[in-house]
Amino acid sequence: MEREVVVTKNAGFCFGAARAVELLEKAASEGKPVYTYGPILNNDRLVESFTKKGVKVIEDVSELKDLPKGIVVIRSHGVSKEVYKALDETGNEVIDATCPFVKRIHKIVDERSKNGEKIVVIGNPTHPEVKGIVGWSNSECTVINTMEEVEKFCRADIKDFCIVAQTTFNSNKFQEFLDIFRKKGYNINVMNTICDATRIRQTEAAELSKKSAVMLVIGDEKSSNSRKLYDICKADCNHTYFIQSVEDIRGRLPVTPGPIGITAGASTPKYIIEEVQSYVRHDF
Ligand code: F3S
Repeated sequence: MEREVVVTKNAGFCFGAARAVELLEKAASEGKPVYTYGPILNNDRLVESFTKKGVKVIEDVSELKDLPKGIVVIRSHGVSKEVYKALDETGNEVIDATCPFVKRIHKIVDERSKNGEKIVVIGNPTHPEVKGIVGWSNSECTVINTMEEVEKFCRADIKDFCIVAQTTFNSNKFQEFLDIFRKKGYNINVMNTICDATRIRQTEAAELSKKSAVMLVIGDEKSSNSRKLYDICKADCNHTYFIQSVEDIRGRLPVTPGPIGITAGASTPKYIIEEVQSYVRHDF
């Protein structure tokens, strides 16, 4: 008997992830050595599939010194101005797969800081996207990630700031942070750079988990947006599972009546979603 299976409309790759993978696929088909600056996405299976095609992940520009010349692909998170320049100087061809939404933040930070504005980035300072954004500022740049940090923020010498956000930052939290900045009397120039892809995925996951007997969230352990989807679904559906592939659920799902919901993080390839979907629909 077929189980009722519902997959959220926007499960899996966001626009920027799909674009980066497409650009890497094209580069890998050219017969030249191909390198990615960091893993192309937070998904081990996808990275492995590219490794099999000869794509090598580098973590630092200096590694390219001892490697044959080829193509370097910058992933969707983007890189700092300095890394960009250093990659360019290695003599490799550089393909920039930085998501255009992240690129827009680089441009804002570059231009505003050149005009003398101080920059505040709301986001996780250890995330590669934020490190890249900070690296486009031509003047002082502060990163703020927690409520405690906004509350502590105190700069009597500066009144005007340009504020940008990491694309995946929580929208409500961002607004709360802005309120505090305003209450403190700062003159803030806010550029809302949060990408809708995250919010849409989260809203869809929340809606589906309320209607599902079992909820499957597909994503790599390292993918923070996938884990966030898991937390959201778990709040509404007791039988929520965070899985990397179909192997994690084979023979392990509870036999509960009712529909099975599936969602997936923005770095989960379509074929992994399809494998899971086909298993729960036909074999489970
Ligand atoms: Fe780009 Fe938004 Fe994805 S910024 S990489 S489309 S989450």
